[in-house]
Amino acid sequence: MRRIVFIPIWFACFLRVLGVGVKDIPIFGSTDNPRILTNDVISDGFQYQVNQTHSVFLYLEDSEEMYVGGTDFVLKIDVDSYHVIEEFSLTTTEQQCEEGPCQNVITVIEKFQDSLFVCGTNGQKPLCWKLFSPVNNQSHEIIEGTGISPFMHTQNSLYLSVEGDLYSAAPLDTDGSSLQFRRKAGSRTNVWMYDKWVSEPTFISASWVKRKEDPDNDKIYIFFREKNTDNDPEADPWISKVARVCKVDEGGSKRFFQNMWTSFLKARLVCGFPEESLYFNRLQEVHVMHAEDWRDTRVYALFSSSWNSTAVCIYSVGMIEEIFENSTFKGYDKDVPKPRPGMCVKNSRSLPLATVSVVKDYPEMTDWVHSIHYTSPFYVSSNNYTKIAVDRVQAADQSMHNILLLSTDTGRIHKVLEVGSKPFIISQTQLSSHSTVQSMKIDSKRKKLVVGFSEKISTIDLQGCQDYGNTCEDCVLARDPYCSWTKFGCTRTVLGGIQSITDQDIRVCIKSVKEPLNLSVIPAPVDLRTVHSVPLDVPFYLSCPINSYHAVYTWKHGNQSCPCLQMQSNCLHLISAMTQENYGNYECISTERNYTKAMKKYQLTEQKVKETQNSSSHNKINAASAFVPQIWFNLGLAIAVICFGPRCP
Ligand SMILES: *[C@@H]1O[C@H](CO)[C@@H](O)[C@H](O)[C@H]1NC(C)=O
Ligand SMILES: *[C@@H]1O[C@H](CO)[C@@H](O)[C@H](O)[C@H]1NC(C)=O
Ligand SMILES: *[C@@H]1O[C@H](CO)[C@@H](O)[C@H](O)[C@H]1NC(C)=O
Ligand SMILES: *[C@@H]1O[C@H](CO)[C@@H](O)[C@H](O)[C@H]1NC(C)=O
Ligand SMILES: *[C@@H]1O[C@H](CO)[C@@H](O)[C@H](O)[C@H]1NC(C)=O
Ligand SMILES: *[C@@H]1O[C@H](CO)[C@@H](O)[C@H](O)[C@H]1NC(C)=O
Ligand SMILES: *[C@@H]1O[C@H](CO)[C@@H](O)[C@H](O)[C@H]1NC(C)=O
Ligand SMILES: *[C@@H]1O[C@H](CO)[C@@H](O)[C@H](O)[C@H]1NC(C)=O
Ligand SMILES: *[C@@H]1O[C@H](CO)[C@@H](O)[C@H](O)[C@H]1NC(C)=O
Repeated sequence: MRRIVFIPIWFACFLRVLGVGVKDIPIFGSTDNPRILTNDVISDGFQYQVNQTHSVFLYLEDSEEMYVGGTDFVLKIDVDSYHVIEEFSLTTTEQQCEEGPCQNVITVIEKFQDSLFVCGTNGQKPLCWKLFSPVNNQSHEIIEGTGISPFMHTQNSLYLSVEGDLYSAAPLDTDGSSLQFRRKAGSRTNVWMYDKWVSEPTFISASWVKRKEDPDNDKIYIFFREKNTDNDPEADPWISKVARVCKVDEGGSKRFFQNMWTSFLKARLVCGFPEESLYFNRLQEVHVMHAEDWRDTRVYALFSSSWNSTAVCIYSVGMIEEIFENSTFKGYDKDVPKPRPGMCVKNSRSLPLATVSVVKDYPEMTDWVHSIHYTSPFYVSSNNYTKIAVDRVQAADQSMHNILLLSTDTGRIHKVLEVGSKPFIISQTQLSSHSTVQSMKIDSKRKKLVVGFSEKISTIDLQGCQDYGNTCEDCVLARDPYCSWTKFGCTRTVLGGIQSITDQDIRVCIKSVKEPLNLSVIPAPVDLRTVHSVPLDVPFYLSCPINSYHAVYTWKHGNQSCPCLQMQSNCLHLISAMTQENYGNYECISTERNYTKAMKKYQLTEQKVKETQNSSSHNKINAASAFVPQIWFNLGLAIAVICFGPRCP
């Protein structure tokens, strides 16, 4: 044993310096980490027969079905059982594809004019289909798809359906150029953009913001990033923007700007630290959370940066509109014509030339759109987040809370609570071993998150509360508005359940009048104490599970207290060689906020028998090795003993 410890000194310390071994597990005691890690809340899912390079889904909240588009097929799937209800085969219609693989990668699925509207790359000759259910006895209608679907799934595109009109952005040329945001099909006129308005754009999202009292003022917001026109070598080559057009815009008159947006305006979307001129410039994903009053509609935008850090900024549509309605036009210093350029008017074809000219030549606002927290992003992280979804959750006291679900590029989902202007990272769920999330949709009614990977579609039950623990304090500390403490344990939120979302204050557990717990549901507390009998002079360690990465763990022995040494998801106490003082009782104590509890208790007694070969192998293989692969464990133990030394007796 001793020799095993001494051999890897240099190697082990070197590895430690590199941080190997703790790479994927958060360090305990820091609230910048997810509080708990879960692996097993995946309720069900769907496995593809062949891995998909690209997939899209259409998830209709009030329906029992979802549609999934992959390569050469569309599936209609039951959202509860994940059985395939119907399969549409959509292979390419061209016999000979000119270049590239002759595949039809589905890029668009949308409910459109009472049918399912599907488009695909179709061997670089985009096509769309209106699919009817076989019971309707109608054959599928085929429509030209250029400008709706890209030529290759790797090219940028987006689509949006509004009152029977289809809006889309997709390249018009095979090489991905001539990327336009247009109204492409439906009852209203087709309208498109003026080429000079954007520069090498990547369209991220489009959203229809309704104004109940004033539908003629409905707007469509477009979120995108584009080439930065600032040629300073220090400047980020990309910059993010929000643009908007009026739903009622029918384009200009026959003589000027016919079939061009007359209401297009854009503004810079700022996310960062304005006081330090430090910005996250690359918009990645957007989730728009609609509200009763359009002004309160919120835009949750995920950005990345040139320094490998990501950020979430939150904007309100009221604040965005304020810029479009009140800012000056960048580069334009004459009197602003009336009606003000960008205003929604019933008949855009009759707009005065002066108004449309400003839109044509100066569509950008001088002022920038700042996030609601202004001085800093809502959340900055070193995780490489790729997708965002937001849910609005009613807590046990009927207050409303926003939950962000963020996916990482390594197949994880972080559940993040928005508390005031601060994020609180409730949990991390590993859904796939290092596979990137292709698509993500939240089902706010069923409280599920549907996540698409290349090999499968998985579902997370957002009300999975079983991982938070078996005491009221554990449940309250989880700070999860989906979960509350009741006599049945930590369960999905019910009115009157015990929670403390805003304050994370465990005193609610004492104050509340307790109903007797249903002990057939809540397991009785287990006896934490373990007794080990250990000979003198041998090295030994004790292990304690880490339940919350926001807690601090310490070992208590007699009147001494020493720090806990983290090894992945366990926390160790190392004894380099047993002496008389090392015998006795040990307690592993976790402290979070001001909740303290004993996680584990050990009693070490002296083992007098020295002759058996078996005795010392006992100490190496105990509780911890069940959690940690043996090789990591041995290496880790060596690292710990050598690099940290036996600080505590
Ligand atoms: C499908 O993807 C999974 C995960 O990325 C991978 O493990 C598996 O080998 C792939 N299967 C095929 C047939 O490529
Ligand atoms: C569907 O079409 C088939 C063949 O064209 C015909 O025999 C059948 O009666 C039709 N069914 C309905 C419900 O229209
Ligand atoms: C960002 O990450 C990429 C790929 O992981 C790496 O090549 C690059 O050096 C990183 N940049 C910075 C500034 O850390
Ligand atoms: C534009 O500014 C005026 C005057 O400051 C203000 O009354 C108005 O509410 C602003 N518009 C928006 C949409 O906020
Ligand atoms: C972040 O994830 C995306 C998507 O997988 C990937 O393209 C990008 O290179 C990643 N960035 C870094 C810095 O690792
Ligand atoms: C306890 O829970 C079980 C299972 O849900 C239920 O059958 C039983 O009636 C409950 N008992 C009480 C006293 O509520
Ligand atoms: C700890 O306890 C030992 C004996 O149990 C005693 O000798 C020692 O003074 C105590 N140390 C402190 C700091 O209380
Ligand atoms: C717990 O901590 C809070 C603030 O951190 C404090 O106000 C409160 O009094 C503490 N409660 C107890 C029981 O110590
Ligand atoms: C050593 O351990 C093995 C398995 O635990 C046991 O079968 C054997 O009897 C032990 N030998 C001695 C000498 O105790």
